[in-house]
Amino acid sequence: MPKNKLAKFAEMENLENVFQPKHAEIFRTDHPLKGKWGKQVFHNNHPIVLEIGCGKGEYTVGLGKLYPEKNFIGIDIKGARMWHGAKAALEEHISNAIFLRIYAEMLDSVFAPNEISEIWITFPDPQMAKARKRLTGSRFLSLYKKFLKPNGLIHLKTDSPFLFAYTSALIQNNRLPCYIQTDNLYESEIEDKILGIKTFYELQWLSRGKQIKYIRFSLSENPLLEPDIELEKDDYHSEARYMNPNRPATL
Ligand SMILES: C[S@@+](CC[C@H](N)C(=O)[O-])C[C@H]1O[C@@H](n2cnc3c(N)ncnc32)[C@H](O)[C@@H]1O
Repeated sequence: MPKNKLAKFAEMENLENVFQPKHAEIFRTDHPLKGKWGKQVFHNNHPIVLEIGCGKGEYTVGLGKLYPEKNFIGIDIKGARMWHGAKAALEEHISNAIFLRIYAEMLDSVFAPNEISEIWITFPDPQMAKARKRLTGSRFLSLYKKFLKPNGLIHLKTDSPFLFAYTSALIQNNRLPCYIQTDNLYESEIEDKILGIKTFYELQWLSRGKQIKYIRFSLSENPLLEPDIELEKDDYHSEARYMNPNRPATL
């Protein structure tokens, strides 16, 4: 029987692969595990990969299965979603996939310089009205720079033409190294088993006939500037209302 949110929250407190720091442990202060995730949590020095805005954590769990020689951390603020990934990882004995429930804004309180090798951003809300909240905007990319290794890859998978155009423009404007960029991944020639993993939101967008877009890039040492262009807004609605028009806008 599906569990309700409260039951999931209660269970999360005791899941060994879920970390839920208290606000006071990360607000303007460093978490005790900062710089120590490899040694103290995974008990190895393998590369650590983040999935930011992981939702149910399909990439965190899927990549964990595919790459036992790497460690994966799914980041989200919504615990009831994260519960699905955490349970799946435990049930399938995937010990290199864990979950961290925090706002992405706090990432530099939990990760030290060069602690992270790679970042996945899967189907984020394009935040068309607020560039500051875009997980691929200059504010967040500057934050990622504080803990991502030089040349560490950032992967964006999105259904949103707006976010794809915005991120592409930002990459171009800042002359960032870009390795792959396609506005129709599944019609492209790109073959990569990693890209075949499909998240909860991706499946919803695919069932509505949306084309999936993908960009693989890295950062540079220079300060990041926002692209100075007008972008056409797309028809992305608040996620909850889009998925179920009868539901209230907040989750
Ligand atoms: C549209 S959902 C996509 C979820 C999942 N990646 C998928 O593809 O199914 C976006 C997720 O990003 C999370 N998110 C957005 N902004 C965030 C932030 N600043 N900090 C932490 N999580 C955030 C939301 O809670 C939500 O679960």
